[in-house]
Amino acid sequence: MTCTKQLLTLFLCATFCIHHGWTWTASCGSATYETNDAVCCGNTLYNRTSGGNGCCGTVFFNTSSHSCVHCGGKYHITAPKYRFYCCGQTQLYNGTSHMCCGGILKTNDRNHWCCGTQSYNFSSHSCCYGKILSGGEYTHRCCGDGTSKDATQTCCANQARPGGTGYRCCGNGTFLTTNETCCKNQVFPGGNDHACCENQVYKRSTHSCCQDKIKTGGGFWCCGPDAYNPNNQSCCGGRVVRGGRSHACCGSKAYNTTKQSCCGSQTYHKKKEICCDGRVNDKPKRAECCRTQAYNSKTHKCCSGTVTLGGKGMACCGTGQTYNKTTHDCCYGVVLDSIGVDNYRCCYDKAYDSKTQKCCNGQVFRAGPDEACCYYNLYNLDTQNCCDYKITQGGRNYTCCRGKIQPGGTGYACCEDQAYFPQTQGCCWRQVYNKTTHICKGYPTYGAVKRD
Ligand SMILES: *[C@@H]1O[C@H](CO)[C@@H](O)[C@H](O)[C@H]1NC(C)=O
Ligand SMILES: *[C@@H]1O[C@H](CO)[C@@H](O)[C@H](O)[C@H]1NC(C)=O
Ligand SMILES: *[C@@H]1O[C@H](CO)[C@@H](O)[C@H](O)[C@H]1NC(C)=O
Ligand SMILES: *[C@@H]1O[C@H](CO)[C@@H](O)[C@H](O)[C@H]1NC(C)=O
Ligand SMILES: *[C@@H]1O[C@H](CO)[C@@H](O)[C@H](O)[C@H]1NC(C)=O
Ligand SMILES: *[C@@H]1O[C@H](CO)[C@@H](O)[C@H](O)[C@H]1NC(C)=O
Ligand SMILES: *[C@@H]1O[C@H](CO)[C@@H](O)[C@H](O)[C@H]1NC(C)=O
Ligand SMILES: *[C@@H]1O[C@H](CO)[C@@H](O)[C@H](O)[C@H]1NC(C)=O
Ligand SMILES: *[C@@H]1O[C@H](CO)[C@@H](O)[C@H](O)[C@H]1NC(C)=O
Ligand SMILES: *[C@@H]1O[C@H](CO)[C@@H](O)[C@H](O)[C@H]1NC(C)=O
Ligand SMILES: *[C@@H]1O[C@H](CO)[C@@H](O)[C@H](O)[C@H]1NC(C)=O
Repeated sequence: MTCTKQLLTLFLCATFCIHHGWTWTASCGSATYETNDAVCCGNTLYNRTSGGNGCCGTVFFNTSSHSCVHCGGKYHITAPKYRFYCCGQTQLYNGTSHMCCGGILKTNDRNHWCCGTQSYNFSSHSCCYGKILSGGEYTHRCCGDGTSKDATQTCCANQARPGGTGYRCCGNGTFLTTNETCCKNQVFPGGNDHACCENQVYKRSTHSCCQDKIKTGGGFWCCGPDAYNPNNQSCCGGRVVRGGRSHACCGSKAYNTTKQSCCGSQTYHKKKEICCDGRVNDKPKRAECCRTQAYNSKTHKCCSGTVTLGGKGMACCGTGQTYNKTTHDCCYGVVLDSIGVDNYRCCYDKAYDSKTQKCCNGQVFRAGPDEACCYYNLYNLDTQNCCDYKITQGGRNYTCCRGKIQPGGTGYACCEDQAYFPQTQGCCWRQVYNKTTHICKGYPTYGAVKRD
């Protein structure tokens, strides 16, 4: 069957196969046939109804009743029911009567398996690393050069040692796990309830092992080199102390966690006391901490680490001061009466009303809308100018250029120490020029030159 034909068939099938049933067509020699009906063996067509369904080499046969083995360069159709195989690629054999051990044909005796190229009775022998040794597979295991019998022996360091079920290896020998314990390859009396402590054995129900030393007390825990009873003792700071269940360590002491807690290395009563930054305080109502102090958060505030009187509606102002937020304000840590509400501002540590006052560098002045600050002082915008931090005569129609008062108000700019009107004038290399008559050249020596 060629690929193109398959594809063509697939394509045709999409339209015609409903009528013809699902079939494949293939070629056999020069003929084409439908694979559902026939088999092609050695370029000859065989009708499936004539007793077969497969090829063995070039021979048509029935795969349900016979098998086909390729062995020694030939195809063999074997007799009904029996399974035949190929041994060593040349010998065809009956799988019921024979077996193939490493390419060598052996009779298939009952209870026999292959061991390399030999067959052996696995009821009486074992195959160990390619050697057949006495002792059946189900009762023995390979051990060193021989076998060990599971019922009475244990294989230790490649040697069969006395002691079967319940025994384990201890160094080269064995020990009975229910009656003995093995510590560092030495056998000690004492079974199940025993354990090793370095190279000694101890009874777990009565003793404990801490830092390789046996201590009295069963089921104890270790606290450094000492053992303790976790039911009524604790290990705090590396030492055994009274305590135990529901206890915790606080410094070197144990405390009962039901009612107490730990503050640094001090215990305190959780209900009556509070721990603030490592210090125990009596617990007020609505307790909160202010550094190491406790306070009632309903009546007091913690202002920069100082407990200060003041409840709801109060706020901190600096350290240790509170103020009523409705009636007062706080300017840089100073409590002030508030004047008005919205216009009220801080002038450093003073308050002022921004509607009627001005804050000039920390000084408050009564000021009208025509007044402004000139550094530390107030000046009148109509008659004065603030020129280089100095108040000079002038007003809105004057401009201060480099410390010099020049005529020219709104819309004027400075060209060095001269005021000019940029709409009609220009500043050309520090010189004022008339834009209608002159033009500024790019290079300083030219300056403004007359327009052509
Ligand atoms: C196979 O045999 C059946 C009936 O025995 C016949 O109808 C069919 O045409 C045969 N097919 C071939 C490919 O010879
Ligand atoms: C193949 O052999 C089986 C079992 O003997 C038989 O039932 C079946 O009809 C055979 N098939 C053909 C195509 O003859
Ligand atoms: C295969 O071996 C079995 C068991 O020895 C025997 O009964 C049978 O006749 C053999 N089959 C053939 C085809 O030789
Ligand atoms: C295999 O060994 C078992 C147990 O020794 C023995 O009873 C049996 O006869 C042996 N079988 C053969 C086929 O040698
Ligand atoms: C185990 O046996 C080997 C070889 O017989 C011997 O060298 C070794 O000392 C033995 N070890 C013990 C722990 O008995
Ligand atoms: C092991 O201990 C049990 C109970 O103490 C005892 O009955 C038994 O004889 C011991 N077995 C051996 C092999 O010592
Ligand atoms: C701890 O409890 C055990 C009994 O469970 C008792 O024998 C022992 O004296 C107690 N130890 C302490 C330190 O209370
Ligand atoms: C811990 O304290 C609670 C309450 O005082 C008490 O009932 C409990 O017995 C104590 N627990 C221990 C282990 O002392
Ligand atoms: C704050 O001042 C207002 C107005 O005088 C007053 O009603 C209020 O009780 C004061 N609040 C506090 C906490 O003193
Ligand atoms: C400023 O100049 C304008 C227009 O020349 C004039 O109307 C105004 O009165 C002057 N202002 C002051 C404060 O001299
Ligand atoms: C600029 O020059 C024009 C034309 O000579 C003149 O009318 C105008 O007044 C001058 N402007 C200024 C600000 O000197």
